[in-house]
Amino acid sequence: MLTSSLPVRHVSEFASDVRASLTKPGQRELPSKYLYDEVGSALFETICVLPEYGLTRADARLLEKHAGEIVGRLPSPIQVAELGSGSGKKTRWILEALSRRQKTYYYPIEISPSALAACAKELGQIDLVSVVGHEQPYLEGLRSVAEGRGDKDHLLVLFLGSTIGNFDRDAGEEFLRETRAILRPGDALLLGTDLEKSVELQWLAYNDPAGVTAAFNLNLLARMNRELGADFDLGSFRHEARWNSVERRIEMHLRSTCQQTVKIPAAGLRIMLEEDETIWTESSHKYKAEEIPEMAARTGFRCDAQWIDREWPFAQNLLIAR
Ligand code: AVJ
Repeated sequence: MLTSSLPVRHVSEFASDVRASLTKPGQRELPSKYLYDEVGSALFETICVLPEYGLTRADARLLEKHAGEIVGRLPSPIQVAELGSGSGKKTRWILEALSRRQKTYYYPIEISPSALAACAKELGQIDLVSVVGHEQPYLEGLRSVAEGRGDKDHLLVLFLGSTIGNFDRDAGEEFLRETRAILRPGDALLLGTDLEKSVELQWLAYNDPAGVTAAFNLNLLARMNRELGADFDLGSFRHEARWNSVERRIEMHLRSTCQQTVKIPAAGLRIMLEEDETIWTESSHKYKAEEIPEMAARTGFRCDAQWIDREWPFAQNLLIAR
């Protein structure tokens, strides 16, 4: 397992990111990547099995159903890198299909050590698949994987689960461009994107009645209490997820239910929150199927194929580097 950063650097990076995003003029924010500590990753796994959250099942259904066809469109020999592997469950179908034709290296790239461990356990047993985890930010990890491959090896990059939806649209395109810059012509990016559906369904997926998504969101405050010595009173915040019809995204916020002061010692911060003020913790952008080939064309790829789930509108897009 390649470990590129020490726990202590994580904490101070967390602290400085918290400081910068909470003190930004205007809307206070927190970066969504920090939702995924060990507790947050476990809560996210639970979200994925909620009846209201169809996204992960749609993603997995498409991979299970079309893995053979997807793999059939890829060049050989090829190695696999995954950005944000999570537990790695959905990736099994692709790795099994690939391992039928070649020995396959699989490089999950993930900042959550607990997710990385789960993933190595889940996928390490497949015959002819070697798992080498990279505990690094996405592009940093992808660069080290790309530099380490042989002259003839192609790369398949997996970016599943509509994680791209966490980026603002411009930043998402910039991310695709930076990914492309690391790749060679003919390399592939399998991109999962959640598609626009009825507002009711979209809203419920982030406002599940059992409150798992609320716990996932509030855990970010608990994490700051644990790791940064903060004194957030979780009872004085409410989970809120709303549909922004202009930006076509779900926005997740934490709403302060009273005027309150919070100390975050490790970030050297004391903030005053007004009653009803919110901290914006995550965006989940939704796409139209036609948008993806256009984005691909603008970022140095072409969209080779697209598979869409009818039960829960979601698309797997196979982009090939030009
Ligand atoms: C993992 C980023 C795709 O945005 O739907 C689930 C995270 N947040 N419920 C999403 C999430 C609240 C999820 N992604």
